Amino acid sequence: MAKRWTTALEAWAIPKRILDAATRDPWLLPVARFGGRADRAVSDPCGVSFERAAEVLRDSPGTVIDVGAGAGAASLPLAPWATSLTALDGNAAMLAAFAERAARLGIEHHEVLGTWPELATEIAMHDVAVVHHVVYNVAAIVPFVRALDERTTRRVVLELPPHHPLTWMNPLWKQFHDLDRPVSPIASDLVEILGAMGVADLRAEHWTTLGLAAADGSDSESLAERAALVTQRLCLRVEREPEVAAAMAETDPGYHRDIVTISWTPGSTPRNDTHR
Ligand SMILES: C[S@@+](CC[C@H](N)C(=O)[O-])C[C@H]1O[C@@H](n2cnc3c(N)ncnc32)[C@H](O)[C@@H]1O
Repeated sequence: MAKRWTTALEAWAIPKRILDAATRDPWLLPVARFGGRADRAVSDPCGVSFERAAEVLRDSPGTVIDVGAGAGAASLPLAPWATSLTALDGNAAMLAAFAERAARLGIEHHEVLGTWPELATEIAMHDVAVVHHVVYNVAAIVPFVRALDERTTRRVVLELPPHHPLTWMNPLWKQFHDLDRPVSPIASDLVEILGAMGVADLRAEHWTTLGLAAADGSDSESLAERAALVTQRLCLRVEREPEVAAAMAETDPGYHRDIVTISWTPGSTPRNDTHR
């Protein structure tokens, strides 16, 4: 199953002929969007993922690590019950956006630039790990979740949409490039992988949000603004934005409302499993 996860994610690579013709980065993550998303998460902390992390900290405050932190939407709302927040991300601008917000909240905070699990052994143990909207970027999923299990003492909380967050764009790839895009992996594949690894108290909770929903904060933007980034994601030139906006009016979900929260009690994965 872990191998299938890896193969499925590799299939999301954009074909070379399309990439070669692109003038802009199709995988760009706009930092301002994630900043807005983090601000909304702080002003209205809610949702199952927030609750699964907060409930273990309310009785006894502790340290929190936010892996793939972006601007901190997963961890900053936990500040009232955290003794410190550590943000780990491969993107320096995201970490700066996190640091600015953590400082404003007056919480002790640390930023670590780099990728998980490569840096895991250099990081102190934390009470709670939160990992929101990251795992569909992670092809080598078993070492990633095993390191979370090993470096956390009280709870690991992952948040992800049921399907890859770019699945909704598949009809646009078909329309503009005649390209069939993948539809896997899905969240239940990850639940199966974690089950096979033997994590303790594994929970997968499906829920719907009408509020803070988009993994990239795009729910606060107009269709024209979203179309600008989608045009870039489709490896098309700026001049195609009106066409893309028209096509999006048919297919754009606006934002992702369906969420899965996966959580477990760390420290129990057998070291000799065969799912690497
Ligand atoms: C879609 S954003 C989500 C950000 C934030 N967790 C949130 O929910 O708003 C994914 C973030 O994970 C980071 N990322 C992806 N894979 C990573 C890895 N293996 N190690 C560290 N950061 C990673 C990216 O740089 C990006 O900032």
